[in-house]
Amino acid sequence: MAQEPLTIEDIILPADCLDGPIDWPRLFGNDNGVEVEIGTGKGTFLINAARANPRINYLGIEWANKYYKYAADRARRWDLANIRMIRCDAKDFIARHTPPQSVQTLHIYFPDPWPKKRHHKRRLFDSNFVAAAVKALVPDGQLHVVTDHKEYFDIIEPLLAGCVQLQLSDFKPCDTAGLGEWVGTNFERKYLAQGRTIYSCTARKITGP
Ligand SMILES: C[S@@+](CC[C@H](N)C(=O)[O-])C[C@H]1O[C@@H](n2cnc3c(N)ncnc32)[C@H](O)[C@@H]1O
Repeated sequence: MAQEPLTIEDIILPADCLDGPIDWPRLFGNDNGVEVEIGTGKGTFLINAARANPRINYLGIEWANKYYKYAADRARRWDLANIRMIRCDAKDFIARHTPPQSVQTLHIYFPDPWPKKRHHKRRLFDSNFVAAAVKALVPDGQLHVVTDHKEYFDIIEPLLAGCVQLQLSDFKPCDTAGLGEWVGTNFERKYLAQGRTIYSCTARKITGP
């Protein structure tokens, strides 16, 4: 029997339904591995990754209402049953709603740099976030970061390098990225067109929780 096309309700995970750690198999209806993208924007990376890897489950976290809806609607139009979108603060989601050792890969592409000093507290990366991210990753799981913002990268990289449970390496361009791209997100395309330098790294979890 043919499957019904997905509706937006199949893709969106209402933030107010969260009470405690999320049950991934229940959310996706299967036991496949889970990857999480923080700050999906319009969802270009998420959609391409989910199309290329139907046996991987993807959760996109985006707090901007406009982008979160846009990305979710793209997933619906592509009929991607392996995508869920949630609108919430990713810091809170990773710390409070992600079961330990349950995420294979964390994708963080062009995180908001909040360049003004008085706004630095809004940045995603701090030692608490790194600790929560490490806890969420499965052993051998990976965290990928790509940014155009050198000053922020010069904070992110030492934070990751200073964590004994992580091993840093060069970031390899994603399979779904276009020629000359690292990940193929909308922000990356904009910044490459402006000739900006892109900074990136991968951190792999090397020990248990
Ligand atoms: C600079 S944009 C990059 C979007 C996309 N990754 C790209 O490369 O095109 C950063 C995105 O992260 C989202 N964001 C920033 N902090 C967040 C947080 N703590 N939780 C969820 N989303 C967040 C913003 O709303 C924004 O859409």
